[in-house]
Amino acid sequence: MRGVLVFLALVAVSQAAFLLPYSLDADLIQLMSTREKPLNDAVSTCQDIQFNYCQTTFNQFFGMDDSISWRNGSYIFNTVQKYLEMNVTELVKVCNTRTQFYQCLGSSYSTCMNLYTLLNRPHPDFSNTFDYVRTFRGLEWMCVGGFAEVTNQWDCLGAFPTTKAYQNCIANFNQTVGAANFCPSVDSTGACLNDAYIAACGDSGSGYYGCENFRITFDNSCWGLRCAVNQN
Ligand SMILES: *[C@@H]1O[C@H](CO)[C@@H](O)[C@H](O)[C@H]1NC(C)=O
Ligand SMILES: *[C@@H]1O[C@H](CO)[C@@H](O)[C@H](O)[C@H]1NC(C)=O
Ligand SMILES: *[C@@H]1O[C@H](CO)[C@@H](O)[C@H](O)[C@H]1NC(C)=O
Repeated sequence: MRGVLVFLALVAVSQAAFLLPYSLDADLIQLMSTREKPLNDAVSTCQDIQFNYCQTTFNQFFGMDDSISWRNGSYIFNTVQKYLEMNVTELVKVCNTRTQFYQCLGSSYSTCMNLYTLLNRPHPDFSNTFDYVRTFRGLEWMCVGGFAEVTNQWDCLGAFPTTKAYQNCIANFNQTVGAANFCPSVDSTGACLNDAYIAACGDSGSGYYGCENFRITFDNSCWGLRCAVNQN
């Protein structure tokens, strides 16, 4: 029954998706948050004034209201997704906007884009906070390490999350992931996506791209996981 529901939920996604569509239970988001706790709270803080200023500047590119913040993470995820799927030109502009945001936050970037930091603020909403953080982690991958691959293979990489192969990898993750096997599940889902992207998009770089695009969200909660670099 659960599998059927997951499948239907995934079929409803739009025509293209660069930020990967899936959802995660609140208890697992909580687990990630605990694992992301910064080792030394004193080194860096996330200051509201700077965070709000940088967010507002980011929002302007997308025509989002100044009031939109990390508390509206699902709205930001969907809005950014719409721009990424327009065409390569818009994707490059989104990446430039992301670079400005990254530079604007400077040394606060990693503290602000952290589940532990944000979920310890008053009255957080778990799925909005998770969507917020994974939007910026996804952009970090596609705009930096994955940039050449995503701009060369925009059509195939964007369409891939609408395929049955993507849905199978994510449905398996959804049905098997738990607190006891969290990082191994992330690892095997990355491997599943690696194979499925190669099968769909042909070149070996697409497999690494697809695996990293998923894994990067868990970079701070599952230390040391790596995606395989495929040989041509
Ligand atoms: C599986 O997906 C469903 C539907 O998207 C979601 O509500 C649920 O939280 C997911 N399960 C896990 C373990 O994350
Ligand atoms: C943004 O989040 C705040 C706090 O949850 C909420 O009151 C507001 O309606 C949200 N705005 C949008 C456009 O979703
Ligand atoms: C990209 O999409 C935007 C929004 O739909 C459009 O205005 C623009 O002309 C497109 N650019 C190219 C190069 O297709």
